[in-house]
Amino acid sequence: MSPHPLAFLPRLIAHRGASADAPENTLAALSLAADRGARMIEMDATVSADGVAVVHHDFELDRCTNGTGPIIQHTYEQLQALDCGAWFDKKYPDAPVKFAGEPLPTLAQAARLILDRSMALNLEIKPSLGWDEPTARVCAETLAQVWPADAPIVVSSMSERALGVFKAHAPQFPRGLITYAIPENWRERMTDLGCVSLHCSHFFATPGTISEVQDAGYKILAYTVNDTAEAKRLFDDGLDAVFTDRIGEMNPLYGAAAP
Ligand code: G3P
Ligand code: MG
Repeated sequence: MSPHPLAFLPRLIAHRGASADAPENTLAALSLAADRGARMIEMDATVSADGVAVVHHDFELDRCTNGTGPIIQHTYEQLQALDCGAWFDKKYPDAPVKFAGEPLPTLAQAARLILDRSMALNLEIKPSLGWDEPTARVCAETLAQVWPADAPIVVSSMSERALGVFKAHAPQFPRGLITYAIPENWRERMTDLGCVSLHCSHFFATPGTISEVQDAGYKILAYTVNDTAEAKRLFDDGLDAVFTDRIGEMNPLYGAAAP
């Protein structure tokens, strides 16, 4: 039997980098996650108005940059001028490290950093609503240029349309389906998209759903777990991996390979 495509999966995935201690989805957050022992990063990718794949979670710029309005209305040049760290300094004025001036990374820049630090990647394709096709296509083209086919990765999305388009353009990269609750027809949806993992909210990762998904040959991952007792419950129940903002706190407890 051939190994599972996600046989490399560690138990902890740094959600948007070390996002409790650095501004999410920045190069600083990715580097800090590596410093804290992360073996895998989750980050969100979308596209600029002129079709450059960039790393950002929200549809709008307001929460995590000094810009405003929809990211899809900004060109790459405009996005490059933004500050993605000052908001974090303002929110946590007593934090020892300052992040003002952090740029908004391109997908290519972030992927190269992750490769350089020998981490695995979960790229979440996060299209602005209605932009599923171009977002998935650009992410596929970018990854095909920078990410070696044999380097550890899973590409996920809540957009099944995006996953289908990504599969058509870069079938070499394994795919995961993100849901909140686990839908009744999850098997059919995973099969149609050729997915190898199901990523659900931790509320729905119960002993029953975990074993059902694993018995069908898939990995099951849960987001977002920042409570150490909840992480213990999930690992005791056999969950494959959690997404956490608190990689520094979780790694000493659960970073070692599963028993
Ligand atoms: O990929 C897991 C998780 O990141 C999905 O939710 O909103 O944090 O991107 P969100
Ligand atoms: Mg995400």
